[in-house]
Amino acid sequence: MNINFKELANKYQTPYYVYDFDHITEQYTQLKEAFKARKSLVAYAVKANSNLSVIKHLANLGAGADCVSIGEVKRALKVGIAPYKIIFSGVGKLDSEIRTALELDILMINVESDAELNRVESIACELDKKARISIRVNPNIDPKTHPYISTGLHENKFGVDIDTAKRMFIQCKNSENLEPVGIHCHIGSQLTQLEPIKESVKIVADLIRNLKAINIELSFMDIGGGLAIVYEDEKLIDTNEYAQSVLDTMFGLDITVVCEPGRFLVGNSGVFITKVLYEKINGDKRFVIIDGAMNDLIRPALYNAYHKVVVLNDNKEFSDCNLVGPVCESGDFFAKNIELPKTKHNDLVAIYSAGAYCFTMASNYNSRGKVAEIAVLNGEDRLIRRRETFEDLIALEEEYL
Ligand code: LLP
Repeated sequence: MNINFKELANKYQTPYYVYDFDHITEQYTQLKEAFKARKSLVAYAVKANSNLSVIKHLANLGAGADCVSIGEVKRALKVGIAPYKIIFSGVGKLDSEIRTALELDILMINVESDAELNRVESIACELDKKARISIRVNPNIDPKTHPYISTGLHENKFGVDIDTAKRMFIQCKNSENLEPVGIHCHIGSQLTQLEPIKESVKIVADLIRNLKAINIELSFMDIGGGLAIVYEDEKLIDTNEYAQSVLDTMFGLDITVVCEPGRFLVGNSGVFITKVLYEKINGDKRFVIIDGAMNDLIRPALYNAYHKVVVLNDNKEFSDCNLVGPVCESGDFFAKNIELPKTKHNDLVAIYSAGAYCFTMASNYNSRGKVAEIAVLNGEDRLIRRRETFEDLIALEEEYL
């Protein structure tokens, strides 16, 4: 990544997110290439980073979109992703969202329960449409990742078991208003082990073959997202091995592979740039206080997640400290007990691996406006979301009293 953080800080102030779009291109191309032996669709998981320019960049590369709300579907459509490349997933879709998804004629609705299938069927009937359905299978496999981002065990709320899925596919087949087209499986996020993915994809492929035997022919095998990135020193799954192990399960099937990566495509494109406000000592404890906070980037507070931190100064005098923000919560930290150089007011601090699940999980807590987002492509920077102002913060409120 060759980005001059100081220059951007002078131009746009801090805090800001900056995304290296060339990195996104490389990640997308690597994955798409890995599946080249088959028809494939890389449907970007929009939740990871839903800035319109980010989605548009991926759309230009050929990506589809994996969406979990109609808001995300509309973002994908707005930047030009064709409806036939859009998937709508999620355990709790609203009636209104199902209706809109059907009206927009997207590729498929990923159904996660019996009850939801019935809702989709009756809404499709009202609209006199045939809903293209994919069913999310929960293979009951431990993905060996953080429990908050693990989804493939029966104790998690996601998907249905194999027998239920089979029954639901038969219901689709027999319905005037449903068409079974796909099967879906996503066991978790930030996956660093291939074995659980292999196991779950094998379960899915076997089910597709079983269904074929009873004349239910699916067109899409959606293996979900979940590929990890390096935050610290993680050993990653090799993309070619990943693709090959998926392709190996697909013998006898003429089917398009769909994958839904989020973090893999955008995670390491992003850096969150902040600046030092103050240093202070409480007793023996040193704190470095920066202008970014948990409302801007909540992963350390929420998951105790590690993000590499670099202070952009030449000071060689390192000592232990906590790196914290200005929000009124003890959970407002980016790193605890970390060795950082002595800093002074306005030194920049870079927080890495901030392209996925960072800006999208930001809030306005403490009435802090969301920060600016900047894209860098071919060495040129562009503001892709301006910093929120106080007027933005209160724009939707009324003073009744
Ligand atoms: N497909 C489905 C059905 C998903 O639920 C997710 C992520 C993805 C694809 C994309 O997963 P990825 O390739 O990005 O791992 N906020 C958490 C991550 C939550 C992931 C939710 N689902 C974090 O900050 O780590």
